[in-house]
Amino acid sequence: MNDLSQPAIKLPIAPQKYVDENIAVFRGVVKKYNMDGYQFTAIKDANCAIPRGEITYVYGPSGSGKTTFLNMLSMLDKPDAGEISLLGKDVLTMSDNEAADFRSRHIGFIFQSFNLIPVLSVRENVEFPLLRHGLSRKERREKAEHYLEAVGLKDYLGRRLGAISGGQRQRVAIARALVTTPSLVIADEPTANLDSATSDEIMNLMLEMRRKFDTSFVICTHNENLLRDTGRLIHIVDGELQDIGGLQ
Ligand SMILES: Nc1ncnc2c1ncn2[C@@H]1O[C@H](COP(=O)(O)OP(=O)(O)OP(=O)(O)O)[C@@H](O)[C@H]1O
Ligand SMILES: [Mg+2]
Repeated sequence: MNDLSQPAIKLPIAPQKYVDENIAVFRGVVKKYNMDGYQFTAIKDANCAIPRGEITYVYGPSGSGKTTFLNMLSMLDKPDAGEISLLGKDVLTMSDNEAADFRSRHIGFIFQSFNLIPVLSVRENVEFPLLRHGLSRKERREKAEHYLEAVGLKDYLGRRLGAISGGQRQRVAIARALVTTPSLVIADEPTANLDSATSDEIMNLMLEMRRKFDTSFVICTHNENLLRDTGRLIHIVDGELQDIGGLQ
């Protein structure tokens, strides 16, 4: 556990329960990239709401702007115009430090390429985001084990990442995203590196985790087969967002 032995940092923002029905609201959001002397508009006048406690799919072809949209939703990037509120807060007025603290408290991430730490065990990977949360080592361990059990990996706690499959790695990443009890989990093409049967399992697991932990998920994908018939759909084509609404 050498890598996890550093002192925990207490964050200035206390966890708070948020009661509004929307986790995030975009109003008139525009994002442009500067490319070789000209500007390319990657997101054009986006208006949408991400409802609390549901799965929202952001679905569109490669290059349509899904990652650009998620980067703004997670405050990793700022828009050129428009307003974004997250848990009722105007995110564009936050300093970089405030945004980083807010992100670590309220948002969990699941990536296409898992982004786990290879030298750490399964359990140490899930404990890792808790280092910023001022918990004892025992509390970190117990929380990590709880979420690893929820994703079906209780027999793999001490395994090195090299000794588990791609699907199991994504399960570790799901436990890591949930362990801080975030209000929102953001997944950018979470199954793109998995075969179709494992992709189905991972999508179903996220649905199950959403129900079990009452967390909101935003999942972006270009694969229509991965959309489920519950949740909400935002369709995106050439940077134009269409908030389709409920899938049921
Ligand atoms: N940093 C950047 N600088 C310039 N253009 C960019 C940048 N990032 C993305 N783009 C362009 O913006 C558009 C949207 O890109 P984005 O990565 O958001 O698409 P995507 O829907 O996530 O695609 P994929 O499914 O392939 O991941 C693309 O045309 C891309 O080339
Ligand atoms: Mg992308």
